[in-house]
Amino acid sequence: MKSYIGAILQVKQHLVNQHLLRLYMVKLENLTKDFARVRAVDDLSLHVRHGEIFGFLGPNGAGKSTTIRLMIGLLKPTWGRVLVDGIDLATKPRHVKRIIGYVPDQPFLYDRLSGREFITFHAQLFQVPQDRQQNALSELSKRLGMDGLLDERIESYSQGARQKIAILGALIHEPRLIVLDEPLVGLDPKSARILKDILRERVNDGATVFLSTHILPIAQELCDRMAIIDRGKLLALGGYEEIRGREDANLESAFLRITESSPTGETP
Ligand SMILES: Nc1ncnc2c1ncn2[C@@H]1O[C@H](COP(=O)(O)OP(=O)(O)OP(=O)(O)O)[C@@H](O)[C@H]1O
Ligand SMILES: [Mg+2]
Repeated sequence: MKSYIGAILQVKQHLVNQHLLRLYMVKLENLTKDFARVRAVDDLSLHVRHGEIFGFLGPNGAGKSTTIRLMIGLLKPTWGRVLVDGIDLATKPRHVKRIIGYVPDQPFLYDRLSGREFITFHAQLFQVPQDRQQNALSELSKRLGMDGLLDERIESYSQGARQKIAILGALIHEPRLIVLDEPLVGLDPKSARILKDILRERVNDGATVFLSTHILPIAQELCDRMAIIDRGKLLALGGYEEIRGREDANLESAFLRITESSPTGETP
């Protein structure tokens, strides 16, 4: 009888743990990444809630792109773990990757393909049904001003067009988690506005967005919560109002205050 009750309690605890894990879309636990000479990410723990736009800020070399690559399974952590929708990335990498759309800081594009071929390739990787793919491509490319360029080879694209095709590729399978590493680089103000609108719409439809950016007014306007990191360590976390100090006029002054007062010195 005792062992029967014990088993039931164990199952119950397991279910509670599963429920707690799934409370967050992303959970980073003591995430650490060492390269040969530098600790790029240093014991970083944070969570991203379902349905929020989360901004990831920090000076050059702070560890943003490395954290993002760990988060989507492109790099393996030295220590710590990443949970996406409660699932440990290390144990089910393929499952997790299917629900993520990723725009890298330097998009890897096949120059010899046309934009349309590149997007079709992406959509097939994620097994998007053809009619859904066509509808999504037609809508997104029109909005981002890419419809006239889809049948041109990517090698002929301007920097902004390359960025837009990378964004289209990341969104085509309607990922539940959209991860963007400095997505606004190269976008003109109108395109930046449209991308911000698209991200907010996706979040309203149930997706979650994690983005890094150096453009602080955009982070202030767009992000529900944000983290500031430097030397791989978390310095601040919260909504704009929580991060802002009494003296700060805006996010820029909060950012400068927080990063300038962080301890200096070489990381191991
Ligand atoms: N593959 C690598 N090998 C060795 N060191 C690396 C590697 N990738 C990143 N680093 C180092 O890790 C640290 C964090 O780099 P990372 O690219 O994550 O910073 P970042 O916050 O994205 O910077 P930026 O704002 O310039 O994009 C830096 O010191 C960088 O030199
Ligand atoms: Mg980077």
